[in-house]
Amino acid sequence: MRTDTEQTIYLKDYAPTPYRIVSVELDFRILEDSTRVRAQLTIEPREGTAPGTALVLDGDDLKLDGIAIDGAPLMLSAYLADATSLTLIEPPHRRFVLDTEVTLDPAANTKLMGLYRSSGTWCTQCEPEGFRRITYYLDRPDVLAPFTVRMTAPLAIAPVLLANGNPIDRGDAGDGMHYAVWHDPFPKPAYLFALVAGDLGSTTDSFTTTSGRKIDLAIYCTHGKEGECHHAMDSLKRSMAWDERRFGREYDLDIFNIVAVSDFNFGAMENKGLNIFNDKLVFAQPETATDANYHSIERVIAHEYFHNWTGNRITCRDWFQLCLKEGLTVYRDQEFSSDEHSRPVQRIHDVQNLRTNQFPEDGGPLAHPPRPDHYREINNFYTTTVYEKGAEIVRMLATLLGEADFRKGMDLYFERHDGEATTIEAFVKVFEDATGTDLGQFITWYLQAGTPQVTASDRYDADSQTYTLTLTQKVDPTPGQPDKQPLLIPVRFGLLGPNGSETSWTAISGATVRDDLILLDRDSVTLTFSGIANRPVPSLFRGFSAPVKLASGLSQDDLLFLARHDSDPFNRWDALQTVSTHLIAEASAGRRWSAGDTDALRSAVVDTLENSDLDPAFKAQAIAIPGVSAIGRHIGKDVDPDAIAKARLDLLSELAGPIAEKLAALYTALAIAEPYSPDAAQAGRRALRNGLMHLLVAGAGRGDVAAAQYESATNMTDRYAAMAISAHYWTEQAPALLGDFRTRFAGDPLVFDKWLMASAQAPDDGAIERMRAILAAPDFPRTNPNRLRSLLGSFVMSGSPQFTRADGAGFRFVAEAVAEIDKVNPQVASRILTGFRILPMLEAGRREAGRSALEALKSQHSLSRNVGEILDRILA
Ligand code: ARG
Ligand code: ZN
Repeated sequence: MRTDTEQTIYLKDYAPTPYRIVSVELDFRILEDSTRVRAQLTIEPREGTAPGTALVLDGDDLKLDGIAIDGAPLMLSAYLADATSLTLIEPPHRRFVLDTEVTLDPAANTKLMGLYRSSGTWCTQCEPEGFRRITYYLDRPDVLAPFTVRMTAPLAIAPVLLANGNPIDRGDAGDGMHYAVWHDPFPKPAYLFALVAGDLGSTTDSFTTTSGRKIDLAIYCTHGKEGECHHAMDSLKRSMAWDERRFGREYDLDIFNIVAVSDFNFGAMENKGLNIFNDKLVFAQPETATDANYHSIERVIAHEYFHNWTGNRITCRDWFQLCLKEGLTVYRDQEFSSDEHSRPVQRIHDVQNLRTNQFPEDGGPLAHPPRPDHYREINNFYTTTVYEKGAEIVRMLATLLGEADFRKGMDLYFERHDGEATTIEAFVKVFEDATGTDLGQFITWYLQAGTPQVTASDRYDADSQTYTLTLTQKVDPTPGQPDKQPLLIPVRFGLLGPNGSETSWTAISGATVRDDLILLDRDSVTLTFSGIANRPVPSLFRGFSAPVKLASGLSQDDLLFLARHDSDPFNRWDALQTVSTHLIAEASAGRRWSAGDTDALRSAVVDTLENSDLDPAFKAQAIAIPGVSAIGRHIGKDVDPDAIAKARLDLLSELAGPIAEKLAALYTALAIAEPYSPDAAQAGRRALRNGLMHLLVAGAGRGDVAAAQYESATNMTDRYAAMAISAHYWTEQAPALLGDFRTRFAGDPLVFDKWLMASAQAPDDGAIERMRAILAAPDFPRTNPNRLRSLLGSFVMSGSPQFTRADGAGFRFVAEAVAEIDKVNPQVASRILTGFRILPMLEAGRREAGRSALEALKSQHSLSRNVGEILDRILA
């Protein structure tokens, strides 16, 4: 069954609008039960538009109450209006003012796109196509105009009235109403429009720019939460300073506002001068937020702030170019985090995220290029490929060009395109023009889907003292792209000699090598190094210099050698991960390791733990054993998650069992006496201590350690880790800890999310029934995206064995939940559904069970375009 349209939009059909919008005046009359919107759009034909060309404005779920041109009401024959468009059949062939009026019901807007109410507060979300749910408009990113916004609302329930830009007027409107007028001088596309009206508290501060302008900063939130906004405010000020230092970018308005709301479809939104945030990415205090929460808040505050230049001042010509602002801005927030904390630890964190989320997308039925060329529903393309792979592409540009030339290109980008809506091609061109580099092959990264697989093989010839290294690349076909072009892959590398230090060579031939960078630009290159005295161990893709899967061909001995000696921390970490991944993958296929293998791995782990040169945050990453999904991805096909989980537990026991006392002693020694601080040093210690607890629980049967930590914890980081690990390994104490947590923090929705996340990890056969009961409880907030994602999103994404149950019960549970959620909020529903992208990788029984759950979803329900598109792509 299908009710929505299946129309596909193609990049090749892009054409500018025949009319421009010169300026926008909006007048909102906000009442308790409805909101009237009057829009006065000054419009003119573009050069070349033929007289009589119709003007078609977008709408979504609108009903036109009134329409006039230059003050004169329009005759019925002059226009066509329905819920999704307003057509002026023959508009004046000159500048004119179109005046329209519609009435909205924000409280009924459960899709959370357009104007809606969240806990009583009126707020908006317009990216990508929400503005058309507010008024008829040319709702596309290449139509830019200055906006003036007047809001009138009851003073008692909405004393705070905010919009983009600067406040220019406010006052009493009689009858208990008041008004405010805001003006944004920067021409912007409608997706950056925002308005907030409500009874909110605030935290204020200020920032003085390099050129000496004082900017007023405020974070608005529910009354009583002001004290939880300090970390966000501090992050904002550091972001503002960083963008000046690192990219020479100053803020451009006199005021910057952030509003925290509790119902939000994703993380946050960069509306000009008025960022709106999911409250989970604003509020933090030690008792209820984890170190990871503090870190995400800092990152997302920075991300949205950085959009002011990469997104707002320079925006996208069309939504196919989304990566232009998102990939670049993720790169910028990753760099910010690296500069503020530890660069290697941040890099490992970001690559882990890429491998966990983006690689499966890129290698499955939902694969698409970072710059796609068609879509049915644009909301389905706010993906990890657009965001995180997009950031990797920008990072490779910086690697290939070098820091100084990369900055030159960025400077030219801001100079050349400020105020424009532009494209990926224009972005790449600034780097060509600023540095004289030909990036013709490089741009393929944006256009081609799929993760390249690079295979390395080598040979050492002692007689001639030559070392030969062959690198080949291959990208498997992806949906709609059967044939792949070779990419320009930067391989940062080193060769380690027998004592673990870098080997030097006298000459290289066979490929372009610049310093420590090999340019792999063909299907295969073979390099010959001369003057090499001993067989070296190659360290390839240092710092993860390209988003590829590497088959290094190295033995476990060589990998553990890298784990001990590589000067590149990323590759030290990766070597350990590779060794345990191989051991578990092989064992799950019946080829069990030898005692020698696990002894060697264990001693590398112990050496890492005892190495006083390494920082605790890095050690925590190094000793973590890859999860079941990561190993499943490595295996790639006919995956049996239960066999992997069993082999993984066996490995954990063999690693941790014999050294349990040592682990426990290290664990005890890492306790922190000082008061909680989210700084990198303390967070690193906690991460390592919790990593040790993880090994003790999973590998040494020490559920009691987690239970004791849960009881004595003085902050949420330690308490949550103890509960989540207990739930994940379903220890004897797990049910009691979950029960305690539920009541201890009753009434705090963001902590409830943590309980939902931990509950979704439980591997026992009762898990699905418990989740059903949670969802069915009368007070479960079934329209709140955070609650739904915490339970169902983490169930499908974090590799729960219950999701992939062989009897299909997990698949059916999620498919049924998706059908229900789709009626309320299609964006949240389709995002949860993407968890099924792993089906093609699973063994045949599970694959079929998953498909039949999806077939049932498709045949028994009328589905949104969002869900319909994802479903069809997974079933294709
Ligand atoms: N532009 C916002 C950000 O990344 C996110 C908007 C997401 N929109 C969506 N439809 N998923 O900062
Ligand atoms: Zn963004």
